[in-house]
Amino acid sequence: MSVQREDSRRVTTHRILEMKQRGEKISMLTAYDFTMGTIVDQSGVDIILVGDSASNVMCGNLTTLPITLDQMIFFAKSVVRGVNRALVVIDMPFGTYQGNSREALASAIRIMKETHGDCLKLEGGEEILESVKRVLSAGIPVMGHLGLMPQSINKYGSYAVRAKEEDEAEKLIRDAHVLEDAGCFALVLEKIPAKLAKQVASELTIPVIGIGAGNEVDGQVLVLHDMVGLTQDFSPRFLRRYADLQRIMHEAIEHYVKDVKSGDFPNEEEQY
Ligand code: KIV
Repeated sequence: MSVQREDSRRVTTHRILEMKQRGEKISMLTAYDFTMGTIVDQSGVDIILVGDSASNVMCGNLTTLPITLDQMIFFAKSVVRGVNRALVVIDMPFGTYQGNSREALASAIRIMKETHGDCLKLEGGEEILESVKRVLSAGIPVMGHLGLMPQSINKYGSYAVRAKEEDEAEKLIRDAHVLEDAGCFALVLEKIPAKLAKQVASELTIPVIGIGAGNEVDGQVLVLHDMVGLTQDFSPRFLRRYADLQRIMHEAIEHYVKDVKSGDFPNEEEQY
Protein backbone atom coordinates (compact mmCIF):
# COMPACT_ATOMS: atom_id res chain seq x y z
CA MET A 1 0.00 0.00 0.00
CA SER A 2 1.36 3.41 -0.86
CA VAL A 3 1.24 6.46 1.40
CA GLN A 4 -0.96 9.33 0.12
CA ARG A 5 1.23 12.39 -0.28
CA GLU A 6 0.22 15.96 -0.99
CA ASP A 7 2.66 16.21 -3.86
CA SER A 8 3.22 13.17 -6.07
CA ARG A 9 5.16 15.05 -8.78
CA ARG A 10 8.56 13.67 -9.66
CA VAL A 11 11.37 15.11 -7.52
CA THR A 12 13.97 16.96 -9.61
CA THR A 13 17.24 18.69 -8.75
CA HIS A 14 15.38 22.01 -9.10
CA ARG A 15 12.76 20.93 -6.59
CA ILE A 16 15.53 19.86 -4.19
CA LEU A 17 17.01 23.36 -4.43
CA GLU A 18 13.57 24.93 -3.87
CA MET A 19 13.18 22.79 -0.74
CA LYS A 20 16.32 24.36 0.71
CA GLN A 21 15.13 27.84 -0.28
CA ARG A 22 11.84 27.44 1.58
CA GLY A 23 13.42 25.65 4.55
CA GLU A 24 11.82 22.25 3.92
CA LYS A 25 14.10 19.42 5.09
CA ILE A 26 15.11 16.85 2.49
CA SER A 27 14.84 13.11 3.22
CA MET A 28 17.20 10.67 1.57
CA LEU A 29 17.70 6.90 2.01
CA THR A 30 19.63 4.21 0.19
CA ALA A 31 18.11 1.35 -1.81
CA TYR A 32 19.81 -1.29 -3.92
CA ASP A 33 17.00 -3.37 -5.44
CA PHE A 34 13.53 -3.13 -7.00
CA THR A 35 11.50 -4.16 -3.93
CA MET A 36 13.25 -1.82 -1.48
CA GLY A 37 13.31 0.98 -4.06
CA THR A 38 9.54 0.63 -4.45
CA ILE A 39 8.93 0.65 -0.67
CA VAL A 40 11.20 3.65 -0.06
CA ASP A 41 9.66 5.59 -2.96
CA GLN A 42 6.09 4.85 -1.90
CA SER A 43 6.93 5.96 1.64
CA GLY A 44 7.62 9.48 0.42
CA VAL A 45 11.41 9.77 0.56
CA ASP A 46 12.67 12.65 -1.62
CA ILE A 47 16.01 11.20 -2.79
CA ILE A 48 16.95 7.53 -3.19
CA LEU A 49 20.67 6.86 -3.21
CA VAL A 50 21.93 3.73 -4.89
CA GLY A 51 24.99 3.93 -2.67
CA ASP A 52 28.23 2.08 -3.10
CA SER A 53 27.45 0.92 0.45
CA ALA A 54 25.86 -1.88 -1.62
CA SER A 55 29.40 -3.25 -1.53
CA ASN A 56 29.01 -3.87 2.23
CA VAL A 57 25.26 -4.37 2.55
CA MET A 58 24.52 -6.43 -0.56
CA CYS A 59 27.87 -8.04 -1.38
CA GLY A 60 29.34 -8.61 2.11
CA ASN A 61 32.59 -6.74 1.43
CA LEU A 62 34.40 -4.99 4.30
CA THR A 63 34.69 -1.71 2.37
CA THR A 64 33.09 0.09 -0.57
CA LEU A 65 36.22 -0.32 -2.69
CA PRO A 66 35.60 -3.70 -4.39
CA ILE A 67 32.21 -2.91 -5.95
CA THR A 68 32.45 -2.65 -9.74
CA LEU A 69 30.82 -0.41 -12.30
CA ASP A 70 28.85 -3.38 -13.67
CA GLN A 71 27.57 -4.25 -10.18
CA MET A 72 26.52 -0.64 -9.47
CA ILE A 73 24.71 -0.54 -12.82
CA PHE A 74 22.90 -3.80 -11.98
CA PHE A 75 21.73 -2.48 -8.58
CA ALA A 76 20.78 0.94 -9.96
CA LYS A 77 18.73 -0.49 -12.85
CA SER A 78 16.73 -2.58 -10.40
CA VAL A 79 16.01 0.41 -8.14
CA VAL A 80 15.02 2.74 -10.98
CA ARG A 81 12.37 0.23 -12.16
CA GLY A 82 10.59 0.60 -8.80
CA VAL A 83 10.69 4.40 -8.43
CA ASN A 84 7.98 6.81 -9.61
CA ARG A 85 8.59 9.92 -7.54
CA ALA A 86 11.97 10.16 -5.82
CA LEU A 87 15.13 11.57 -7.40
CA VAL A 88 17.51 8.64 -7.95
CA VAL A 89 21.20 9.37 -7.28
CA ILE A 90 23.81 6.73 -8.10
CA ASP A 91 27.28 6.49 -6.56
CA MET A 92 30.18 6.32 -9.00
CA PRO A 93 32.25 3.42 -7.65
CA PHE A 94 35.88 3.63 -6.58
CA GLY A 95 38.30 3.69 -9.51
CA THR A 96 35.88 4.99 -12.13
CA TYR A 97 36.53 8.74 -11.80
CA GLN A 98 39.58 9.48 -9.63
CA GLY A 99 42.37 8.95 -12.16
CA ASN A 100 41.25 10.56 -15.34
CA SER A 101 38.34 12.83 -16.24
CA ARG A 102 37.80 11.19 -19.67
CA GLU A 103 37.31 7.82 -17.96
CA ALA A 104 35.05 9.55 -15.44
CA LEU A 105 32.87 10.86 -18.25
CA ALA A 106 32.78 7.47 -20.00
CA SER A 107 31.76 5.73 -16.74
CA ALA A 108 29.18 8.42 -16.00
CA ILE A 109 27.61 8.14 -19.44
CA ARG A 110 27.45 4.33 -19.12
CA ILE A 111 25.67 4.62 -15.77
CA MET A 112 23.16 7.15 -17.08
CA LYS A 113 22.45 5.30 -20.36
CA GLU A 114 22.09 1.85 -18.79
CA THR A 115 20.28 2.67 -15.54
CA HIS A 116 18.03 5.63 -16.42
CA GLY A 117 18.92 7.15 -13.04
CA ASP A 118 18.79 10.92 -12.52
CA CYS A 119 22.16 11.98 -11.07
CA LEU A 120 25.55 10.77 -9.86
CA LYS A 121 27.46 11.18 -6.59
CA LEU A 122 31.26 11.45 -6.43
CA GLU A 123 33.47 11.54 -3.32
CA GLY A 124 36.07 14.29 -3.02
CA GLY A 125 36.79 17.99 -3.57
CA GLU A 126 39.57 19.84 -5.39
CA GLU A 127 41.39 16.60 -6.28
CA ILE A 128 38.50 15.31 -8.42
CA LEU A 129 37.36 18.70 -9.74
CA GLU A 130 38.28 17.95 -13.35
CA SER A 131 36.16 14.81 -13.30
CA VAL A 132 33.24 16.63 -11.66
CA LYS A 133 33.37 19.34 -14.33
CA ARG A 134 33.57 16.82 -17.19
CA VAL A 135 30.56 14.90 -15.89
CA LEU A 136 28.63 18.15 -15.39
CA SER A 137 29.55 19.28 -18.92
CA ALA A 138 27.63 16.29 -20.30
CA GLY A 139 24.49 17.57 -18.59
CA ILE A 140 24.63 15.01 -15.78
CA PRO A 141 23.76 16.47 -12.36
CA VAL A 142 26.38 15.76 -9.70
CA MET A 143 26.02 15.48 -5.93
CA GLY A 144 29.29 16.00 -4.02
CA HIS A 145 30.40 14.04 -0.94
CA LEU A 146 32.87 15.38 1.65
CA GLY A 147 33.87 14.60 5.24
CA LEU A 148 34.25 10.87 5.82
CA MET A 149 34.66 9.44 2.33
CA PRO A 150 34.51 5.63 2.62
CA GLN A 151 36.31 5.17 -0.72
CA SER A 152 39.38 6.74 1.00
CA ILE A 153 39.29 4.43 4.03
CA ASN A 154 42.79 3.15 3.33
CA LYS A 155 44.11 6.70 3.55
CA TYR A 156 42.29 7.46 6.85
CA GLY A 157 42.80 4.06 8.48
CA SER A 158 39.48 4.27 10.37
CA TYR A 159 35.86 5.43 10.13
CA ALA A 160 36.35 8.04 12.89
CA VAL A 161 34.80 11.53 12.74
CA ARG A 162 36.56 13.71 10.15
CA ALA A 163 37.53 17.40 10.09
CA LYS A 164 37.86 17.84 13.84
CA GLU A 165 41.18 19.64 13.33
CA GLU A 166 41.24 23.17 11.93
CA ASP A 167 43.28 22.46 8.78
CA GLU A 168 41.00 19.60 7.68
CA ALA A 169 37.89 21.68 8.48
CA GLU A 170 39.26 24.60 6.43
CA LYS A 171 39.95 22.29 3.47
CA LEU A 172 36.44 20.87 3.73
CA ILE A 173 34.91 24.37 3.61
CA ARG A 174 37.08 25.26 0.60
CA ASP A 175 36.13 22.01 -1.16
CA ALA A 176 32.43 22.60 -0.49
CA HIS A 177 32.66 26.00 -2.23
CA VAL A 178 34.69 24.53 -5.09
CA LEU A 179 31.99 21.89 -5.68
CA GLU A 180 29.18 24.46 -5.50
CA ASP A 181 31.04 26.80 -7.89
CA ALA A 182 31.63 23.92 -10.30
CA GLY A 183 27.85 23.35 -10.48
CA CYS A 184 27.07 20.45 -8.13
CA PHE A 185 23.36 20.50 -7.22
CA ALA A 186 23.79 19.19 -3.64
CA LEU A 187 26.41 17.98 -1.21
CA VAL A 188 26.57 15.09 1.27
CA LEU A 189 28.59 15.69 4.45
CA GLU A 190 29.44 12.48 6.31
CA LYS A 191 30.50 12.16 9.95
CA ILE A 192 31.85 15.64 10.74
CA PRO A 193 31.21 17.96 13.72
CA ALA A 194 27.68 19.42 13.67
CA LYS A 195 29.03 22.96 14.06
CA LEU A 196 31.14 22.64 10.90
CA ALA A 197 28.24 21.12 8.94
CA LYS A 198 25.99 24.00 10.04
CA GLN A 199 28.55 26.52 8.81
CA VAL A 200 28.85 24.80 5.41
CA ALA A 201 25.05 24.57 5.02
CA SER A 202 24.65 28.26 5.82
CA GLU A 203 27.44 29.35 3.45
CA LEU A 204 26.26 27.27 0.46
CA THR A 205 23.19 27.97 -1.63
CA ILE A 206 22.93 24.28 -2.69
CA PRO A 207 21.34 21.78 -0.28
CA VAL A 208 23.64 20.03 2.21
CA ILE A 209 22.52 16.54 3.25
CA GLY A 210 24.09 15.15 6.41
CA ILE A 211 24.87 11.69 7.74
CA GLY A 212 26.36 12.02 11.20
CA ALA A 213 26.62 15.77 10.60
CA GLY A 214 23.98 17.07 13.04
CA ASN A 215 20.61 18.65 12.54
CA GLU A 216 21.43 22.07 11.16
CA VAL A 217 21.84 20.99 7.56
CA ASP A 218 19.22 20.86 4.81
CA GLY A 219 18.44 17.16 4.93
CA GLN A 220 19.43 13.74 6.24
CA VAL A 221 20.53 10.46 4.68
CA LEU A 222 20.86 7.00 6.23
CA VAL A 223 21.56 3.52 4.91
CA LEU A 224 18.14 1.82 4.69
CA HIS A 225 19.30 -1.56 6.00
CA ASP A 226 20.78 0.11 9.10
CA MET A 227 17.77 2.30 9.92
CA VAL A 228 15.25 -0.57 9.65
CA GLY A 229 17.49 -2.91 11.67
CA LEU A 230 18.21 -5.44 8.94
CA THR A 231 21.88 -4.96 9.82
CA GLN A 232 22.75 -5.13 13.52
CA ASP A 233 26.53 -5.06 13.73
CA PHE A 234 26.88 -1.38 12.79
CA SER A 235 25.87 1.06 15.53
CA PRO A 236 27.46 4.47 15.13
CA ARG A 237 26.11 7.25 17.34
CA PHE A 238 24.37 8.98 14.42
CA LEU A 239 22.24 5.95 13.53
CA ARG A 240 18.63 5.91 14.71
CA ARG A 241 17.06 2.45 14.28
CA TYR A 242 13.38 2.80 13.40
CA ALA A 243 12.60 -0.93 13.36
CA ASP A 244 14.07 -4.31 14.21
CA LEU A 245 13.43 -6.12 10.95
CA GLN A 246 16.22 -8.61 11.56
CA ARG A 247 14.41 -9.91 14.66
CA ILE A 248 11.06 -9.95 12.84
CA MET A 249 12.59 -11.92 9.95
CA HIS A 250 14.34 -14.38 12.27
CA GLU A 251 11.05 -15.03 14.08
CA ALA A 252 9.13 -15.50 10.82
CA ILE A 253 11.74 -17.82 9.30
CA GLU A 254 12.09 -19.90 12.48
CA HIS A 255 8.30 -20.23 12.57
CA TYR A 256 8.30 -21.40 8.92
CA VAL A 257 11.05 -23.97 9.59
CA LYS A 258 9.05 -25.27 12.57
CA ASP A 259 5.86 -25.53 10.50
CA VAL A 260 7.64 -27.36 7.66
CA LYS A 261 9.28 -29.81 10.06
CA SER A 262 6.04 -30.49 11.91
CA GLY A 263 4.04 -30.92 8.69
CA ASP A 264 1.78 -28.01 9.63
CA PHE A 265 2.68 -26.15 6.40
CA PRO A 266 1.06 -26.27 3.90
CA ASN A 267 -2.46 -26.90 5.21
CA GLU A 268 -5.50 -27.85 3.10
CA GLU A 269 -6.22 -24.26 2.10
CA GLU A 270 -2.65 -23.77 0.97
CA GLN A 271 -2.70 -26.55 -1.63
CA TYR A 272 -4.46 -27.34 -4.96
O1 KIV B 1 27.06 4.68 -0.15
C1 KIV B 1 26.33 5.24 0.69
O2 KIV B 1 25.42 4.64 1.27
C2 KIV B 1 26.58 6.64 0.98
C3 KIV B 1 25.84 7.26 2.12
C4 KIV B 1 26.42 6.81 3.40
C5 KIV B 1 25.77 8.73 2.02
O3 KIV B 1 27.38 7.26 0.34
